[in-house]
Amino acid sequence: MRIPIVDTRRQLDNIKSEINFAVSEVIESGQYILGPIVRKFENEVCEYIGVTHGIGCASGTDALMLALMGIGICPGNEVITTPFTFVATVEVIALLNAKPIFVDINPENYNIDTEKIESVITEKTRVIMPVHLFGKCADMDKINYLAEKYGLKVIEDCAQSFGAEYNGKKAGGLSDVGCFSFYPTKNLSAFGDGGMVTTNSDSLAENIRIIASHGSKKKYNSERIGINSRLDPIQAVCLSVKLKCIDSWNNLRGENAKLYNQLLKDADVIIPSEEYINSSVFHQYSIRVKNRDELKNYLQSKGIGAMIYYPIPVHLQGAYSYLGYKEGDFLVCERVAKEIISLPMFPELKEDEIKYIADEIKNFLKQ
Ligand SMILES: Cc1ncc(COP(=O)(O)O)c(C=O)c1O
Repeated sequence: MRIPIVDTRRQLDNIKSEINFAVSEVIESGQYILGPIVRKFENEVCEYIGVTHGIGCASGTDALMLALMGIGICPGNEVITTPFTFVATVEVIALLNAKPIFVDINPENYNIDTEKIESVITEKTRVIMPVHLFGKCADMDKINYLAEKYGLKVIEDCAQSFGAEYNGKKAGGLSDVGCFSFYPTKNLSAFGDGGMVTTNSDSLAENIRIIASHGSKKKYNSERIGINSRLDPIQAVCLSVKLKCIDSWNNLRGENAKLYNQLLKDADVIIPSEEYINSSVFHQYSIRVKNRDELKNYLQSKGIGAMIYYPIPVHLQGAYSYLGYKEGDFLVCERVAKEIISLPMFPELKEDEIKYIADEIKNFLKQ
């Protein structure tokens, strides 16, 4: 059996005619940059998330960059975040010559350990940037409490958590700003790159729209230095079609995770906790196991596309050595990075495929 970690073809097969019709309408319309189709999708996301502004942009990385620029992050400002994330979270901070300040992660959910944030807050801190990793929200109550106490802004990296909830509210509407990626493997995904910033702040939304459009409110009149970052109408129209399915897709991911847990509960691996199962939208289903690299090779030899997210924490990546962190600084993160492995996870994954994967994991553990 061959089971990839994500199979975007299967999703497409279910919505192909609607997608083809929507794309051809955009092509016929002649409007290929911004316009009413992008606005419509922005409004749909706002309604879904429960925020007042959604600003489409070119990628999740740009969404994070725009949020930091919109807040007015300056060289030397400090931004607190997690070292256990995709590097984009950190690279945008560094690109603005601000300083990423890392905090270790919680071993239960792999998100920033909120008990360890307060001790790294300084006079230079401007932002806390939690990542809702693998589809599970960070502990936002504690983060918002600290932000209020110290006068900081909060930017949620929601790239992996479209549709995730925390205390009944959606990720992206839990703090000052939310940043989404519509990269093709994400829970809500485009046929290419795309992203969105969400906020309830009128002034921040206006700032971000201006920055995303070369710093201009009026064409050919630059008020400030900006960038070019736009969501294409072709992507927006496809995302509109898919948005209607997101809850059922996320539910299917949850069902798959439950089945994995049930089948692996007696195996010698660490599976997601009951609490995690009930609150994640399972962008990834990840387990922890001692001889992880051997398991990955074994699964690959059986046609199973397991992946390691993330093998090297950002504080140990060469590009960030200038920050002065070293091995041993974030012990939980470093241990998790050695043990974690993500198994195939997508809504259309079949029951017999999950059974096959679980059986092969058990076969490997018996060796
Ligand atoms: C946690 C996280 N942040 C940011 C990004 C960047 O998103 P994009 O690839 O759309 O630029 C990604 C995804 O790729 C991500 O997983």
